[in-house]
Parts: sequence; structure tokens; C-alpha cells
Amino acid sequence: MKRLYTKQNHTECKSQLIILPFIENAKNIAFTAFNSQFEQLLSQTAAHHQFTGKIGEILTVLPKPEQTLIVAGLGKRPSANTWRDAIAKSITIAINKKIKTVSIFLDTLMESHISYCVEGVTFGVYRFHKYKTNPVPICVSQVKVGVIARAASHAVGTKMVRRATIRADAVCRCRDLVNEPANRLGVTEFISLTQKTAKASSLQCKVISGTTLTQKGFGLINAVGQGSNQSPALLELKYVPSKIKPHGSRTIALIGKGVVFDSGGLDLKPAEYMTNMKTDMAGAAVVLSVVAALADLNSPHHVTAYIPLAENAIGKNAMRPGDIFTSYSGRTVEITNTDAEGRLLLADTLAYTENRNFNEIIDFATLTGASSIALGRKRGAVFSSNKPLLGKWMDIAEKNGEYIWPLPLATELESELRSDVADLKNSGGRFGGTISAALFLQKFTSSANWVHFDIAGPARATTSSFACPKGGTGFMVLTALEYLEK
Ligand code: BES
Ligand code: MN
Ligand code: ZN
Repeated sequence: MKRLYTKQNHTECKSQLIILPFIENAKNIAFTAFNSQFEQLLSQTAAHHQFTGKIGEILTVLPKPEQTLIVAGLGKRPSANTWRDAIAKSITIAINKKIKTVSIFLDTLMESHISYCVEGVTFGVYRFHKYKTNPVPICVSQVKVGVIARAASHAVGTKMVRRATIRADAVCRCRDLVNEPANRLGVTEFISLTQKTAKASSLQCKVISGTTLTQKGFGLINAVGQGSNQSPALLELKYVPSKIKPHGSRTIALIGKGVVFDSGGLDLKPAEYMTNMKTDMAGAAVVLSVVAALADLNSPHHVTAYIPLAENAIGKNAMRPGDIFTSYSGRTVEITNTDAEGRLLLADTLAYTENRNFNEIIDFATLTGASSIALGRKRGAVFSSNKPLLGKWMDIAEKNGEYIWPLPLATELESELRSDVADLKNSGGRFGGTISAALFLQKFTSSANWVHFDIAGPARATTSSFACPKGGTGFMVLTALEYLEK
């Protein structure tokens, strides 16, 4: 689906569907312009249907036999997600009517509004239907975004639409990875897919696996993967900027938990908790989709993605409760729960980034069910001892409509991880489970600029919305991309 910026005057618009986003009680310049073009048809129909532009309200008008016009209500002070949902809802109408061409007209050239429109249409047509014999056909092939008050240049508008398109497509790529089942995207397939992505996006790719992984001392990554017939691996993907910012380019490590399936291991999960555990590589999916888009967005930073991959399976070689492993850092870890495997992967990976001169280390992981208990399923937890850095992430996430909230690296819970027989144990008690998981990770990095995101809840949507069907959400891709852009 092409997404373009158009300088076309609204009176010349030939698209089969026109969408006018409408803010309640505001001036709505685009609405006024089309209203006078169609001889007050819009205002008359709006009055007849008592349309005021509330959130989710849709007014459909047929000014000509070959053209449909939708006025999409946004409420009074629409959030990013209200915008996306309203546009996505309008696109659903285009899908049902088998419409090919769509134009959206905005009042003014504002980057955030342009982005919401591009995201709304992109997410609105997103489906994961590759395994359906008869998928619903989606005919929308071209979406133009136009502006009524055209003071700004074509070049600026085109740039905004291009950026929004790259970002929205990265979210969809992440969703695809999360939605892919574990029998189709196991460790092996994830590695080859990463190698393909690296080639396409000019990233340097290194795979550490097999005896090398053992020889180098990745005891915890190996422990997690040893129960599966797909042996574990650590992927390294390096993005080198073509244009650096003098004094402004930073060196950043991104780490993403890549458990292709989490059965829980010998501490097997009950059926209802295991159902969606193909999602347990969502952190890896975020990191891969993000590095793959950096070149297109001209990021000035040196970014290296690290993806520890494993399947947490049961079998005769699986790690057992009580087993003790030596981590990459040299610290020994007693396994008290084989289902606390994500932190094991991340611990070895964090330790690997030590002494590699990273200015910042950022990890994304579907780490604890407890994070959803604390914050609900739509909000991620964020940890960092660096307040300004945390604040920066919070601001960007807020702007992008990705909900996160900080939790403390509470020292009073450190005793939870004390082991009688090893340096640490891998799981604490039930209370503060998200925090003790973060504390475990903290033991493996000395970076003052470490940020940890627990995305166990929001990585998957349990209910469908217009902008996101049930399944992978791509949560944190937009925020991470914006963070790495400037
Ligand atoms: N992958 C799970 C966390 C999870 C739960 C992700 C729900 C997505 C949805 C993780 O590996 C896990 O099993 N965590 C345990 C930790 C416990 C054993 C200390 C949990 O949350 O119960
Ligand atoms: Mn687990
Ligand atoms: Zn897990």
C-alpha cells in the first residue's frame, strides 16, 4: 500500500474514499472546505444525524456516486491512539467496500497528525492472515495525505509521510514476528531471518552458537536452551551510521529477549498460561524491527542489537530446579524456577556488553506476568537508575501513545535473590516479581545508563481494536525509533 503526501487541491480529489478527521468543537477547516464544495451537504447530514465529532463517531456521506466521504470523530482532545483508531476505523469501511484509493485531508501540516494518519491506515489494514486459505481481500492500494491550509512545502510534507511510513511498517514487521507461531519461527528460522534482514538493511551480523557459545562462557543462555533440539544462540547486529553528528552520536546497545517458545521448562506452565507463549520473543522482535529501520531513518547513532535466542522446552536435557550454572560474568546462578528463563538469557547478554564501550544499554523483554498484575495489560514497566534518561524515554513514549510507567529497583527486595548454594538464585517470591526480575538483571551490568523495559503485557493484544488486531502489537517500536533518531 502506497502512502503519499499530496499537494492536490481538495476540489480535484478523485479518490474513492475521502477521510476528514474531525475534532469536536474545533474549527475543522477541512470539513468547512468540503462542506462548501458539496453545497452544505456535510453540515446538513451532520445536523440530521446529530453528529458532533465524539470519539469513534463516524459520519458517512455520498456526495457523488463514485465517492464516499467519511467524517471521523476524534473527540475534544484526541490522543495518539484516538487518532489512529479513528483513521483505522474509517479504513475498515474502505476494506468492506473494496475501495482502492483513499485521501485524508488535514487542516494544517503538523507532523504528529500526519504520522497518526499514516499509522492509522497502515495499522487499519494490518492482518496476520498468511496461514488462512481465504483471507479477506484488502484492496486499498494508495493513501494520500493532503492539507487544506497549504502553507508548507511539498518537500516537507513528503518527508513527514515517508518517515511515518517507515515507522509504521516497522511496527507491522514486529507484529508479524510476534504472530508467527513457534513451529514456523524457531531459533533456526529466527537466525536465517535475521541474516536476511541484515543483508537487506546493511547491518553487520554475527551469530554466536554451538560450541562457540559454550567456549565463550554463555552458561545461562546454554542452560535455557539445553532442553530443546534447537540449540540456543546469541545474535549481534551492528548498525553503522552513514552520517554522524559531531559530538552527538552515541553508542547504544539494544537487547531483546528471544524465547521462541516458553513452555516454562520442567516447572511447566499450566495450559492457559502457555497458550500465547510464542509471544516470548517480542523483545527480540522489537529490537530487530528497530535496527532494520535505522538506516532509512538516518539515525546518527552507533546501534548494536543483541538477541539471545532459545526455546524453553522440556526434555531429557532440560535444566532442572536446583541446577547451578556459571554465567558469562562468572557469577553462579541456582535455578529455583525453570520458568524464570528470560532473565537468564538477558543476564549473559548484559554481561557480554560490559567493557564494550556502550554509552547506553537498553533491553526489552516479556519478562514477568507480574508486570501485568501491577500495571494492567496495556502498559509496560520501565526501570532505570538514571532519572534523566528515564524521563527522556517516558516523554517519547507518551508522545507516541505507548504506555509505560517506572517501577523502582528496590534494594529491599534484593534478599529475594540470595541463594544458599550459589551466588544468586534466578527467582524470588511472588511479591514484587517484576522488580526482583529487574534486580536480577541489574547484577549483570555496571552501566549507569541501563534501561530495562518489561513488556510482558502490552506486547500482545488480548482484544482487537481497529488499529490492532488480537496478537502482536509492536509495542515500543515507535518509541525506540524516535529515541534513536536524533
Ligand atoms: N515469559 C514469561 C513472562 C510472561 C508472562 C510473558 C505472561 C508474557 C505473558 C516469563 O518467562 C515467566 O515465565 N515469568 C515467570 C517468572 C516467575 C517464574 C518468577 C512469571 O511471570 O510467572
Ligand atoms: Mn518463563
Ligand atoms: Zn519467558
